[in-house]
Amino acid sequence: MAAAPAKPFLKWAGGKTHLLDSLRTVYPAGLGDTICKYAEPFVGGGAVLFDLLAAYRMKQVYIGDSSPQLINAYLAVRDHVEELVERLSPMEEIFHLLDSQARRAYYNAQRTRFNRRMAAGHPLGVEDAALLIFLNRTCFNGLYRVNRRGLFNVPMGAYRNPMICDGDNLRACSALLQGVEIVCGDYQACAPFVDEHTFVYFDPPYRPLSPTSSFTAYTSQSFNDGDQEALARFARELAGRGALVALSNSDPRSVCPEDDFLERIYDGFTIKRVQAARMINSKAAARGAVSELLITSYPAPGGAGQ
Ligand SMILES: C[S@@+](CC[C@H](N)C(=O)[O-])C[C@H]1O[C@@H](n2cnc3c(N)ncnc32)[C@H](O)[C@@H]1O
Repeated sequence: MAAAPAKPFLKWAGGKTHLLDSLRTVYPAGLGDTICKYAEPFVGGGAVLFDLLAAYRMKQVYIGDSSPQLINAYLAVRDHVEELVERLSPMEEIFHLLDSQARRAYYNAQRTRFNRRMAAGHPLGVEDAALLIFLNRTCFNGLYRVNRRGLFNVPMGAYRNPMICDGDNLRACSALLQGVEIVCGDYQACAPFVDEHTFVYFDPPYRPLSPTSSFTAYTSQSFNDGDQEALARFARELAGRGALVALSNSDPRSVCPEDDFLERIYDGFTIKRVQAARMINSKAAARGAVSELLITSYPAPGGAGQ
């Protein structure tokens, strides 16, 4: 029986909900059967993770991300979901009762608390996860952005009655996360997990399409072309051991037809272009949807590459 559907419990930059229909066409054959392990080392909001776990029974699952706050939230949802709901629910009640000025003061107080706890450097726990979810649900655009010192600096958004504590969804996510290995760190830490029974999906920070469209500040570091090349080498190494590897990235040709950087570093992989309604700051976006790349180490079941 399929598990209860769950959707990402955080809005996360680069979230893949809008691409799920296309991504499902490149899920490999044998998922939940011969391909019984799943690894997602740039998990972010986990749109693909939750989609896949609700539909397929996987024996072992690994997720990772370099953001400690994000990984702490996954741990809290997996291991302490009732305590998390107990902390979030009154925050929602209070927030909804306040007028806009009082909301701003309450939001700023929670943001200060979140940052103070982070700066104090004590181990992250359920309270930090609750604060992250609260801020994520009420901040401008659901953006997670930190300054150079690693402090969250997004202002409050303008939502009338934001859903802050979606208990049913948090519990559905928690159920799907039982038994999942959750790791904070660099994507390469997944190496020991991956074998010939593993489907690996990499969703790295996208290669910027233009200098102004760059958004690589999920953590305080960025992901440059050298990092993209290192990832491609790593993907090739995992495919070499028989793993089935899929990746997504931006399509540089949307704005610069002669830019073949990703084609070069993924030479020999299958590359599929899919349309995506994505907000980017360029003339191409003004003309309509841009495409994104789905790159697989195997012939995609949903059709040939182009
Ligand atoms: C494009 S987002 C993933 C979005 C995700 N697929 C979703 O649906 O929300 C990229 C993620 O990679 C993480 N990240 C950046 N550099 C990393 C690294 N070297 N190793 C692991 N994770 C990294 C960021 O914190 C961010 O959450």
